[in-house]
Amino acid sequence: MITTRLVILGPPGSGKGTRAKIIGRVYGIPVVTTGDMLREAVSEGTELGRLAEAYMKRGELVRDDIVIGIVEERFSKPDVEEGFVLDGFPRSVKQAEALDRILVKMGIALDIVLNVTARSETILGRLSLRRSCPKCGAVYHIKDMPPKQEGICDECGSPLVQRDDDKEEIILHRLEVYRDQTVPILERYKKAGKVKEISGELEIDQIIDEVKRVLGGV
Ligand code: AP5
Repeated sequence: MITTRLVILGPPGSGKGTRAKIIGRVYGIPVVTTGDMLREAVSEGTELGRLAEAYMKRGELVRDDIVIGIVEERFSKPDVEEGFVLDGFPRSVKQAEALDRILVKMGIALDIVLNVTARSETILGRLSLRRSCPKCGAVYHIKDMPPKQEGICDECGSPLVQRDDDKEEIILHRLEVYRDQTVPILERYKKAGKVKEISGELEIDQIIDEVKRVLGGV
């Protein structure tokens, strides 16, 4: 059976979002990315966006109650019942406990937690050359995954931007936050036997094969 309910964890810039989108496309399941949802709220200037913006600019986690609220709302939609890729959530023990509650209420369980590993040098090199689409969330790398037309999103034609939190001092802080707040939940999922490791160091065209090997062929 193909595993379809999964969480993707890993440090900032390890390639979670890139892999989550590939998995969503290959397995035909919705991708829920809390970072994209928060950035969308910031660019739309909603109340949620105003609350989240300052945390995000500093590279801090947005308050648990806020993020849990948006995930609860997203999981009230029926399309996630048959499968999902959760990218960027949970990120703290409180969020992991909240996810357990949400899934129990839905009568489903998490199949697998993919842990993407990458070296700090890889992360810093990647994030400084990342460009993102503020409209549809597509992600590029100037050197390794460039858009067809420089500076323009292939998916929706919007101008690409560099994220505010992709500056070196903020990236280093995001890595600290990851170690302090997110690594403990990785340990929790390891104890539950849910974790499979995938490498964030592979070339882009090797990602699909690795994902299929770990999740089961299509
Ligand atoms: P979020 O958007 O989740 O950021 P992150 O976890 O720091 O991860 P990134 O998006 O930076 O990296 P990624 O691992 O997805 O890598 P990507 O695939 O883009 O969160 C941002 C902020 O939002 C947080 O700091 C926080 O404030 C808030 N937030 C979000 N969720 C929250 C939560 N649950 N609770 C509280 N706050 C929350 O890849 C990186 C680059 O590398 C790209 O350019 C890509 O093209 C390139 N690349 C990827 N793979 C490869 C490869 N194999 N070869 C070459 N290049 C590659």
